[in-house]
Amino acid sequence: MDLARVLPYTATVNNKNHLVVGGCDVVELAQEFGTPLFVYDEETIRENIRRYKEAFASRTQNFEIVYAGKAFLCQAICQLMMKEGLSIDVSSGGEIYTAMKANFPSERIYFHGNNKTEEEIDLALSYSVGGVIVDSFDEIELLEEKVKNRGKKLPVFLRITPGVIPSTHSFIQTGQVDSKFGFGLAGGLALKATQKVLESSFLELRGFHVHIGSQIFLLRSYARAVEVIMGFISEVKKECNFVTRELNLGGGLGISYRTTDEPATIEEFAEVLVEGVKREGEKHGLEIPKIMVEPGRSIVGQAAVTIYRVGTVKEIPGIRIYVSVDGGMSDNLRPMLYGAVYEAILANRVENGKKVKVTVAGKHCESGDILIKEAYLPMPRRGDYLCTPSTGAYGYAMANNYNRQPRPAVVMVRDGKARVIIERESFEDLVRLDRPYF
Ligand SMILES: Cc1ncc(COP(=O)(O)O)c(C=O)c1O
Repeated sequence: MDLARVLPYTATVNNKNHLVVGGCDVVELAQEFGTPLFVYDEETIRENIRRYKEAFASRTQNFEIVYAGKAFLCQAICQLMMKEGLSIDVSSGGEIYTAMKANFPSERIYFHGNNKTEEEIDLALSYSVGGVIVDSFDEIELLEEKVKNRGKKLPVFLRITPGVIPSTHSFIQTGQVDSKFGFGLAGGLALKATQKVLESSFLELRGFHVHIGSQIFLLRSYARAVEVIMGFISEVKKECNFVTRELNLGGGLGISYRTTDEPATIEEFAEVLVEGVKREGEKHGLEIPKIMVEPGRSIVGQAAVTIYRVGTVKEIPGIRIYVSVDGGMSDNLRPMLYGAVYEAILANRVENGKKVKVTVAGKHCESGDILIKEAYLPMPRRGDYLCTPSTGAYGYAMANNYNRQPRPAVVMVRDGKARVIIERESFEDLVRLDRPYF
């Protein structure tokens, strides 16, 4: 098994046969900070960012990397993105607030969402975010109403659904009538929205946005999306005499969750996007716009592991061995939400000859609370530390309090030092908002 594909880049095994990340013995981290525990490797995040910057910088002068905060956001991550000079995309008032609390530069915040509430829009405006990605006609009107007394135009991007559905086997074009996001090209909706914004006295059209999906392995879906959006940009130039200077091509690059996964690389992703925009630009006689991308998973996904403590080990002879851990669907909802598959390792006995097939179960009161259906581990025992790699994206971000389970702590490691970036919730935190009724 090539665990390097799923573990943080700094992962090694020490002479105690323990997993080491960022120079820290993961078993010692679990003992110090408790379990379940998210361990983020700063070096992996920085390396992925470096690769993104280099991959784009070597192909175009004009680009912007926007970290998709939905993958994992907290103040420390905002600070790290700030230090790295990245921008952030936010999709809720809570994410805007987090970025504000971290003093993230407001002009590098882009606000998304198919149903931004008035309160969220007010918050975004109070912080003068760098751009709002507009999703519907309804929202164009709402934004105009909100900014009409502001004295300056609000920069906006229009989210276009290009009719490309990515899959690991093929891409399928649809009329794109059926998406809750953005303006479809069918029926001239996207063009109509463009005209409406261009006519507005309160909104400034900065450009267009496209996001075709997430955990995408096949880059030809992107190539097709670029072809479609550049065709639209050409139409906009002809019909509205508007020159598009900024094009956000979204995120979605896949990562390895299993050692057998073979996602495209960051460099290949950049190549398809930038070369695609150049090629299509030339074809239509367009200026090359600034290319923006919004990666989330491919920056933080592989950077983290989750460490659990093994509790009950139950063997149903001839059928299955259930290995239960002290977390589950409250810290990793992805297997239950969309059948995501993970690897497992025993962090305290990494390299150990004989392996058995087990099912890793969470501790929650749902039979569907299964983290991994088929994992191959040295026969687990109560007290072992079980690690699931590649949990850095949409893990903690989707964590919840089902069964009144406190959310885990999150530590960031680097050069043998670990710092808590999100404290573990306490039972007291869980009842903090409860009010007695009787
Ligand atoms: C608009 C938008 N941008 C960027 C992303 C980030 O995607 P990923 O984390 O797969 O890179 C998402 C995620 O779904 C998204 O909806």
